[in-house]
Amino acid sequence: MTEIRTAAVVGSGYMGGGIAQCLALAGVDVALADVSAEVATANYERLVAEAEAFEEQGLFPAGATATIRERLIPATSIQEAVAGAEYIQEAVPEDLTIKRDILARVEAAGARGIIATNTSALPIKDIADGLTDPSRFLGVHWMNPAPFVPGAEIIPHATTTQEAIDASSALLARAGKTPAVVSDTPGFVANRLQFALYKEAVRLVEEGVATPSAIDDVVSTTFGFRLALFGPFAIGDMAGLDIYKASYDSLEAGYGERLAAPRSLAEHVADGELGLKSGSGFLDIPAERTAELIAYRNRAYQRLSALRAELGPAPLGE
Ligand SMILES: NC(=O)c1ccc[n+]([C@@H]2O[C@H](COP(=O)([O-])OP(=O)(O)OC[C@H]3O[C@@H](n4cnc5c(N)ncnc54)[C@H](O)[C@@H]3O)[C@@H](O)[C@H]2O)c1
Repeated sequence: MTEIRTAAVVGSGYMGGGIAQCLALAGVDVALADVSAEVATANYERLVAEAEAFEEQGLFPAGATATIRERLIPATSIQEAVAGAEYIQEAVPEDLTIKRDILARVEAAGARGIIATNTSALPIKDIADGLTDPSRFLGVHWMNPAPFVPGAEIIPHATTTQEAIDASSALLARAGKTPAVVSDTPGFVANRLQFALYKEAVRLVEEGVATPSAIDDVVSTTFGFRLALFGPFAIGDMAGLDIYKASYDSLEAGYGERLAAPRSLAEHVADGELGLKSGSGFLDIPAERTAELIAYRNRAYQRLSALRAELGPAPLGE
């Protein structure tokens, strides 16, 4: 697998611009394309000015502005941008018709590179259906703000080649990101979970259980605080799956089947697989690493608490 050295970002707005900065800082030459040469040039200038501010604030490393100024190139057209690009990242508005139209133009320009869409929730298959050769097409879902959020989803569809998956994953890793390959299902992983939580939070407000700001406080200082460091399965295995099962039983009594224990959780508990304390659960965390894990967790939470105190509260109020 050869290392990607050239890229095009089609749609150099908010997400596309941040992605372009990440790729440039990873040593990739990136052509920016947009609705016109003028918009691409204005976005280039915006991204350089933003990099300068980030560098001054210590958010980008020293020399980042010069790298971004040199490695980003505003293109006069989509055709020009994608012609020599080994990786093409589409980040135009979240509209199937627009995305399919743009990707048809990318193909018509004779582009040979991997083509990645940054869609938030459109099925990758539906976008792929508009392509003549969908084998080098996949979803690469960067998160907002792209320069500072460390993860991204890689979403192949049925005929995406392994090479396209591996090359995209390697490119993200070079950009300092942690790529996770997930299936092409509505909302993928991040947005399915994020929007499930959001819906339940709105429901709590609608039912008068708590105000939006009280809910935000609870989430960001309790279980959401932990989620900055661990996923739900690591947290569940550490807490004990029997505790989780018992909690779901109470939730089911209050809210019905909607919040009943998931089948495989109940099976783990029935089989005595209770997580860390029993040596197996959803993750098979080795028993001999328990002390090391707990020490890591304690250190990580203490450091995260210190960071919260250092930053102070987010400026959300008056
Ligand atoms: N904003 C977020 O939080 C976020 C997070 C993850 C994914 N996404 C996804 O990223 C994509 C882009 O979102 P955004 O927030 O950056 O939008 P945006 O409006 O900031 O940027 C879209 C860019 O596409 C350009 N564009 C529009 N039509 C075009 C065309 N025909 N040809 C070329 N360029 C065209 C626009 O001029 C603009 O610069 C969407 O699919 C969105 O769902 C957004």
